[in-house]
Amino acid sequence: MTAGRKKMNLGALRQLKSKGIPASAITAYDYPSAVFADEAGMDWILVGDSGGMTMLGYKNTLPVTMDEMLQFSKAVARGVKTAMLIGDMPFMSYQLSNESAVLNASRFLAEGGCEAVKLEGGIAVCGRIKAIVDAGIAVMGHLGLTPQSISLQGGYKVYGKNLKEYDSLLADAMAVEEAGASFLLLEAMPDEPAGMIRDALSIPVYGIGAGGKLDGQLLIMHDVLGTFVGDIEPKFAKRYLEGRRLITEALRSYAAEVRSGAFPAKDHLYPIAPEALAEIVAKHGKK
Ligand code: KIV
Repeated sequence: MTAGRKKMNLGALRQLKSKGIPASAITAYDYPSAVFADEAGMDWILVGDSGGMTMLGYKNTLPVTMDEMLQFSKAVARGVKTAMLIGDMPFMSYQLSNESAVLNASRFLAEGGCEAVKLEGGIAVCGRIKAIVDAGIAVMGHLGLTPQSISLQGGYKVYGKNLKEYDSLLADAMAVEEAGASFLLLEAMPDEPAGMIRDALSIPVYGIGAGGKLDGQLLIMHDVLGTFVGDIEPKFAKRYLEGRRLITEALRSYAAEVRSGAFPAKDHLYPIAPEALAEIVAKHGKK
Protein backbone atom coordinates (compact mmCIF):
# COMPACT_ATOMS: atom_id res chain seq x y z
CA MET A 1 0.00 0.00 0.00
CA THR A 2 2.90 2.37 0.82
CA ALA A 3 4.52 1.74 -2.57
CA GLY A 4 3.71 4.56 -4.96
CA ARG A 5 2.07 6.73 -2.29
CA LYS A 6 3.47 10.19 -2.01
CA LYS A 7 4.74 11.49 1.31
CA MET A 8 2.00 13.26 3.23
CA ASN A 9 2.74 16.72 4.55
CA LEU A 10 0.81 19.89 5.29
CA GLY A 11 0.42 20.71 1.60
CA ALA A 12 -0.89 17.23 0.82
CA LEU A 13 -3.37 17.40 3.72
CA ARG A 14 -4.59 20.80 2.52
CA GLN A 15 -5.04 19.34 -0.96
CA LEU A 16 -7.17 16.50 0.44
CA LYS A 17 -9.34 19.10 2.18
CA SER A 18 -9.71 21.19 -0.97
CA LYS A 19 -10.76 18.09 -2.92
CA GLY A 20 -13.23 17.12 -0.20
CA ILE A 21 -11.40 13.83 0.51
CA PRO A 22 -11.47 13.01 4.24
CA ALA A 23 -8.06 12.17 5.72
CA SER A 24 -7.74 9.00 7.78
CA ALA A 25 -5.57 9.00 10.87
CA ILE A 26 -4.74 6.76 13.77
CA THR A 27 -2.53 6.82 16.84
CA ALA A 28 0.61 4.69 17.08
CA TYR A 29 3.17 4.26 19.83
CA ASP A 30 5.54 1.55 18.62
CA TYR A 31 7.40 0.34 15.54
CA PRO A 32 5.16 -2.52 14.37
CA SER A 33 1.91 -0.60 14.70
CA ALA A 34 3.51 2.34 12.85
CA VAL A 35 4.47 0.00 9.99
CA PHE A 36 0.93 -1.45 9.90
CA ALA A 37 -0.69 2.00 9.96
CA ASP A 38 1.58 3.33 7.25
CA GLU A 39 1.09 0.26 5.06
CA ALA A 40 -2.66 0.62 5.54
CA GLY A 41 -2.44 4.08 3.98
CA MET A 42 -3.06 6.40 6.93
CA ASP A 43 -2.65 10.05 5.94
CA TRP A 44 -1.35 11.11 9.32
CA ILE A 45 -0.34 9.33 12.49
CA LEU A 46 -0.51 10.78 15.98
CA VAL A 47 1.93 9.66 18.63
CA GLY A 48 -0.71 10.40 21.25
CA ASP A 49 -0.19 10.84 24.96
CA SER A 50 -3.01 8.27 25.08
CA GLY A 51 -0.01 5.91 24.81
CA GLY A 52 0.32 6.42 28.56
CA MET A 53 -3.00 4.61 28.97
CA THR A 54 -2.91 2.17 26.04
CA MET A 55 0.74 1.13 26.38
CA LEU A 56 1.82 1.96 29.92
CA GLY A 57 -1.36 1.32 31.88
CA TYR A 58 -1.75 4.79 33.45
CA LYS A 59 -5.31 5.67 34.51
CA ASN A 60 -5.25 8.90 32.47
CA THR A 61 -2.79 10.90 30.33
CA LEU A 62 -1.46 13.18 33.09
CA PRO A 63 1.54 11.08 34.21
CA VAL A 64 3.02 10.78 30.71
CA THR A 65 6.48 12.37 30.42
CA MET A 66 8.46 13.89 27.56
CA ASP A 67 10.91 10.99 27.78
CA GLU A 68 8.11 8.45 27.35
CA MET A 69 6.64 10.42 24.44
CA LEU A 70 10.03 10.65 22.74
CA GLN A 71 10.57 6.93 23.12
CA PHE A 72 7.18 6.25 21.49
CA SER A 73 7.91 8.83 18.76
CA LYS A 74 11.31 7.45 17.84
CA ALA A 75 9.93 3.93 17.46
CA VAL A 76 6.98 5.14 15.39
CA ALA A 77 9.17 7.33 13.17
CA ARG A 78 11.28 4.27 12.28
CA GLY A 79 8.16 2.58 10.93
CA VAL A 80 6.53 5.43 9.02
CA LYS A 81 7.32 6.11 5.38
CA THR A 82 4.47 8.17 3.96
CA ALA A 83 2.06 9.31 6.68
CA MET A 84 2.61 12.71 8.27
CA LEU A 85 3.79 12.17 11.83
CA ILE A 86 2.49 14.35 14.65
CA GLY A 87 3.74 14.25 18.23
CA ASP A 88 1.40 14.97 21.13
CA MET A 89 2.85 17.34 23.71
CA PRO A 90 2.30 15.78 27.16
CA PHE A 91 0.92 17.46 30.27
CA MET A 92 3.21 20.25 31.53
CA SER A 93 5.49 20.14 28.49
CA TYR A 94 4.00 23.41 27.17
CA GLN A 95 1.89 24.90 29.96
CA LEU A 96 4.72 26.57 31.93
CA SER A 97 6.34 29.01 29.49
CA ASN A 98 6.82 29.78 25.82
CA GLU A 99 10.49 28.78 26.17
CA SER A 100 9.79 25.31 27.54
CA ALA A 101 6.99 24.85 25.00
CA VAL A 102 9.31 25.66 22.08
CA LEU A 103 12.11 23.52 23.50
CA ASN A 104 9.85 20.50 24.05
CA ALA A 105 8.16 20.92 20.66
CA SER A 106 11.58 21.05 19.01
CA ARG A 107 12.53 17.74 20.69
CA PHE A 108 9.59 16.01 18.97
CA LEU A 109 11.10 17.05 15.61
CA ALA A 110 14.83 16.83 16.32
CA GLU A 111 14.79 13.64 18.42
CA GLY A 112 11.38 12.07 17.87
CA GLY A 113 11.25 12.26 14.07
CA CYS A 114 7.87 14.05 14.10
CA GLU A 115 6.81 16.67 11.57
CA ALA A 116 4.39 18.65 13.73
CA VAL A 117 3.16 18.76 17.32
CA LYS A 118 -0.30 18.78 18.84
CA LEU A 119 -1.29 20.60 21.99
CA GLU A 120 -4.55 20.93 23.87
CA GLY A 121 -6.42 24.15 24.54
CA GLY A 122 -7.79 27.32 22.98
CA ILE A 123 -7.33 31.02 23.74
CA ALA A 124 -5.35 30.15 26.89
CA VAL A 125 -2.57 28.44 24.89
CA CYS A 126 -2.50 30.71 21.84
CA GLY A 127 0.71 32.38 23.07
CA ARG A 128 2.35 28.94 23.14
CA ILE A 129 1.05 28.06 19.68
CA LYS A 130 2.41 31.31 18.26
CA ALA A 131 5.80 30.82 19.90
CA ILE A 132 6.09 27.25 18.55
CA VAL A 133 4.98 28.29 15.06
CA ASP A 134 7.43 31.23 15.14
CA ALA A 135 10.15 28.64 15.80
CA GLY A 136 9.20 26.98 12.51
CA ILE A 137 7.19 24.06 13.89
CA ALA A 138 3.72 23.18 12.61
CA VAL A 139 1.05 22.91 15.30
CA MET A 140 -2.23 21.02 15.52
CA GLY A 141 -4.72 22.51 17.98
CA HIS A 142 -7.00 20.27 20.05
CA LEU A 143 -10.40 21.41 21.38
CA GLY A 144 -13.55 19.91 22.85
CA LEU A 145 -12.73 17.13 25.25
CA THR A 146 -9.12 17.81 26.23
CA PRO A 147 -8.02 14.96 28.52
CA GLN A 148 -5.12 16.90 30.05
CA SER A 149 -7.70 19.26 31.62
CA ILE A 150 -9.56 16.44 33.35
CA SER A 151 -8.96 18.20 36.67
CA LEU A 152 -10.92 21.27 35.49
CA GLN A 153 -13.35 19.47 33.20
CA GLY A 154 -14.23 17.04 35.98
CA GLY A 155 -14.29 13.92 33.80
CA TYR A 156 -14.81 12.96 30.20
CA LYS A 157 -17.91 14.43 28.53
CA VAL A 158 -19.24 15.62 25.19
CA TYR A 159 -18.64 19.31 24.34
CA GLY A 160 -20.61 21.86 22.28
CA LYS A 161 -24.05 20.65 23.29
CA ASN A 162 -25.37 24.12 24.14
CA LEU A 163 -24.94 27.69 22.89
CA LYS A 164 -22.58 28.74 25.67
CA GLU A 165 -20.19 25.85 25.02
CA TYR A 166 -20.45 26.26 21.25
CA ASP A 167 -19.66 29.99 21.44
CA SER A 168 -16.64 29.28 23.58
CA LEU A 169 -15.43 26.46 21.30
CA LEU A 170 -15.84 28.65 18.20
CA ALA A 171 -13.92 31.51 19.83
CA ASP A 172 -11.15 29.07 20.82
CA ALA A 173 -11.04 27.52 17.34
CA MET A 174 -10.77 30.90 15.64
CA ALA A 175 -8.07 32.01 18.05
CA VAL A 176 -6.09 28.79 17.49
CA GLU A 177 -6.20 29.35 13.72
CA GLU A 178 -5.28 33.01 14.17
CA ALA A 179 -2.31 32.01 16.37
CA GLY A 180 -0.90 30.04 13.44
CA ALA A 181 -2.04 26.45 13.95
CA SER A 182 -1.95 24.51 10.68
CA PHE A 183 -4.78 22.15 11.61
CA LEU A 184 -7.23 21.50 14.41
CA LEU A 185 -8.58 18.38 16.10
CA LEU A 186 -12.03 18.35 17.72
CA GLU A 187 -12.74 15.67 20.29
CA ALA A 188 -16.13 14.46 21.54
CA MET A 189 -18.63 16.83 19.97
CA PRO A 190 -21.98 16.38 18.24
CA ASP A 191 -21.87 16.21 14.45
CA GLU A 192 -23.50 19.56 13.54
CA PRO A 193 -21.65 22.03 15.80
CA ALA A 194 -18.34 20.32 14.93
CA GLY A 195 -19.17 20.74 11.23
CA MET A 196 -20.04 24.42 11.82
CA ILE A 197 -16.63 25.00 13.41
CA ARG A 198 -14.99 23.26 10.47
CA ASP A 199 -16.89 25.56 8.08
CA ALA A 200 -15.85 28.66 10.02
CA LEU A 201 -12.12 27.92 9.65
CA SER A 202 -9.85 27.62 6.64
CA ILE A 203 -7.36 25.12 8.11
CA PRO A 204 -8.19 21.37 8.00
CA VAL A 205 -10.35 20.37 10.95
CA TYR A 206 -10.27 16.71 11.99
CA GLY A 207 -12.27 14.88 14.58
CA ILE A 208 -12.17 12.06 17.07
CA GLY A 209 -15.74 11.43 18.14
CA ALA A 210 -16.87 14.66 16.51
CA GLY A 211 -19.00 13.37 13.66
CA GLY A 212 -18.64 13.11 9.92
CA LYS A 213 -18.76 16.73 8.71
CA LEU A 214 -15.03 17.24 9.12
CA ASP A 215 -11.87 17.01 7.00
CA GLY A 216 -10.97 13.60 8.40
CA GLN A 217 -11.08 11.17 11.28
CA LEU A 218 -8.70 10.02 13.99
CA LEU A 219 -9.12 6.90 16.10
CA ILE A 220 -6.99 5.34 18.81
CA MET A 221 -5.13 2.25 17.56
CA HIS A 222 -6.13 0.13 20.58
CA ASP A 223 -9.82 1.04 20.17
CA VAL A 224 -9.75 0.01 16.51
CA LEU A 225 -7.98 -3.27 17.25
CA GLY A 226 -9.93 -4.03 20.44
CA THR A 227 -6.77 -4.24 22.52
CA PHE A 228 -7.37 -1.43 25.02
CA VAL A 229 -7.14 -2.83 28.54
CA GLY A 230 -9.16 -0.37 30.56
CA ASP A 231 -12.72 0.60 31.36
CA ILE A 232 -13.19 3.56 28.98
CA GLU A 233 -15.22 2.68 25.89
CA PRO A 234 -16.14 5.85 24.02
CA LYS A 235 -19.30 5.71 21.88
CA PHE A 236 -17.40 6.74 18.75
CA ALA A 237 -14.64 4.13 19.07
CA LYS A 238 -15.61 1.65 16.37
CA ARG A 239 -13.87 -1.68 16.92
CA TYR A 240 -12.61 -3.33 13.73
CA LEU A 241 -11.03 -6.34 15.44
CA GLU A 242 -11.70 -8.31 18.63
CA GLY A 243 -7.99 -8.06 19.41
CA ARG A 244 -8.05 -8.71 23.14
CA ARG A 245 -10.18 -11.84 22.73
CA LEU A 246 -8.15 -13.12 19.77
CA ILE A 247 -4.79 -12.49 21.45
CA THR A 248 -5.88 -14.09 24.72
CA GLU A 249 -7.24 -17.11 22.83
CA ALA A 250 -3.95 -17.47 20.93
CA LEU A 251 -1.92 -17.29 24.15
CA ARG A 252 -4.27 -19.75 25.85
CA SER A 253 -3.75 -22.19 22.95
CA TYR A 254 0.02 -21.78 23.20
CA ALA A 255 0.02 -22.44 26.95
CA ALA A 256 -2.27 -25.47 26.50
CA GLU A 257 -0.04 -26.92 23.75
CA VAL A 258 3.06 -26.50 25.93
CA ARG A 259 1.29 -28.33 28.74
CA SER A 260 0.08 -31.13 26.47
CA GLY A 261 3.40 -31.47 24.63
CA ALA A 262 1.79 -30.56 21.27
CA PHE A 263 4.24 -27.65 21.03
CA PRO A 264 6.93 -27.74 19.85
CA ALA A 265 5.99 -30.02 16.95
CA LYS A 266 8.30 -31.41 14.26
CA ASP A 267 8.03 -28.19 12.18
CA HIS A 268 9.49 -26.11 15.02
CA LEU A 269 12.62 -28.22 15.58
CA TYR A 270 16.08 -27.39 14.21
CA PRO A 271 17.45 -30.41 12.32
CA ILE A 272 20.81 -31.95 13.09
CA ALA A 273 22.76 -34.26 10.78
CA PRO A 274 22.40 -37.91 12.03
CA GLU A 275 26.20 -38.41 11.97
CA ALA A 276 26.76 -35.30 14.13
CA LEU A 277 24.10 -36.47 16.60
CA ALA A 278 25.55 -39.99 16.67
CA GLU A 279 28.97 -38.53 17.48
CA ILE A 280 27.61 -36.42 20.35
CA VAL A 281 25.60 -39.33 21.77
CA ALA A 282 28.60 -41.67 21.43
CA LYS A 283 30.72 -39.31 23.49
CA HIS A 284 28.18 -38.10 26.05
CA GLY A 285 25.57 -40.83 26.07
CA LYS A 286 21.84 -40.21 25.92
CA LYS A 287 19.80 -39.58 29.02
O1 KIV B 1 -3.43 11.20 22.92
C1 KIV B 1 -4.25 11.04 22.02
O2 KIV B 1 -4.35 9.98 21.40
C2 KIV B 1 -5.11 12.15 21.73
C3 KIV B 1 -6.40 11.84 21.04
C4 KIV B 1 -7.37 11.31 22.02
C5 KIV B 1 -6.91 13.01 20.35
O3 KIV B 1 -4.83 13.25 22.08
